[in-house]
Amino acid sequence: DDLPLVLGIETSCDETGVGLVRGCTLLGEDVASSVEQHVRFGGVVPEVASRAHLEAMVPTVRRALDKAGAAPSDVDAVAVTAGPGLAGALLVGVSAAKAYAMALDVPLYGVNHLVGHVAVDQLEHGPLPKPAVALLVSGGHTSLLLVEDLATRVRSLGDTVDDAAGEAYDKVARLIGLPYPGGPPIDRAAREGDPGAIRFPRGKWGDGTYDFSFSGLKTAVARWVEDAGRTGEDLPVPDIAAGFQESVVDVLTRKAVDACVDNGVEHLVISGGVAANSRLRALAEERCAKAGVELRVPRPKLCTDNGAMIGALGAEVVAAGLPPSRLDLATDTSLPV
Ligand code: KG4
Ligand code: ZN
Repeated sequence: DDLPLVLGIETSCDETGVGLVRGCTLLGEDVASSVEQHVRFGGVVPEVASRAHLEAMVPTVRRALDKAGAAPSDVDAVAVTAGPGLAGALLVGVSAAKAYAMALDVPLYGVNHLVGHVAVDQLEHGPLPKPAVALLVSGGHTSLLLVEDLATRVRSLGDTVDDAAGEAYDKVARLIGLPYPGGPPIDRAAREGDPGAIRFPRGKWGDGTYDFSFSGLKTAVARWVEDAGRTGEDLPVPDIAAGFQESVVDVLTRKAVDACVDNGVEHLVISGGVAANSRLRALAEERCAKAGVELRVPRPKLCTDNGAMIGALGAEVVAAGLPPSRLDLATDTSLPV
């Protein structure tokens, strides 16, 4: 094949991800997660994550190459997450990427983690139609992007003004006694509950922006927990989970579909760890169908942080003919799109 083989490296949070990508084809990937080391803290501890990346990096690259049936010398370019993300975690990935690029004598490309979450969809559904809107929802981000070209033209439409959507799931799970990470257990508990039993507030609903807010919702749940503590009544966990979840996915899907309609865009990508949410998927499908928007959601394994997404974006950047990064490429914890 004449398309370049791109080695993608991702270390922005707690996943050490490596992917080998050619065009829109994923040849092999591997992810090492340090999530278990963070469980007892109820959230990612940056120093623990950095150390875990350092230990996992070389074995993860080896496993990804093995799965792709590729040798290091087959690699034509190295792409790495330059930001946004945790400072120390990003540094480990970028340092490793520089070392591989230098040792293999191939170009290095620093790319944006958020755009990688969108680019990964090409590995599942083929070339992304232009333009597209992307909703990125994970423990670290809640962003709406207008994607005119993955390599050269991505614009931010809106973001969360406080907690990320996944962070809200994690904090609320903790409040109502469910384990970390909170998304999957809340998703499950909500299936036993009535989403209409408790009407929780919808942050930034109808405010004319594409921004989000989840801290008021979290406070509303905390008030329920306090009240139950005072009266000694059992907490209606399934109903709280269902009501909370309905508030989150209602605003997310409404604003994402509005962003498509307002910008004349017919394709919506939803990615990030929260894209695994069953209710988010169902409501997005319903509202997209009504608005004539085609919905693309990568499989859960590609939605969470991984190296394939960085390889996929790297392949786009190489194809666009953008200049490589220099070997003094810096990380940027709040890199804009
Ligand atoms: O993308 P990801 O693996 O890591 C980053 O944060 O970048 O996303 C993890 C987040 C966690 O907050 C987790 O609670 C949430 O995704 N999550 C879910 C579900 N599965 C994972 N949230 C809602 N419903 C789910 N089924
Ligand atoms: Zn991410």
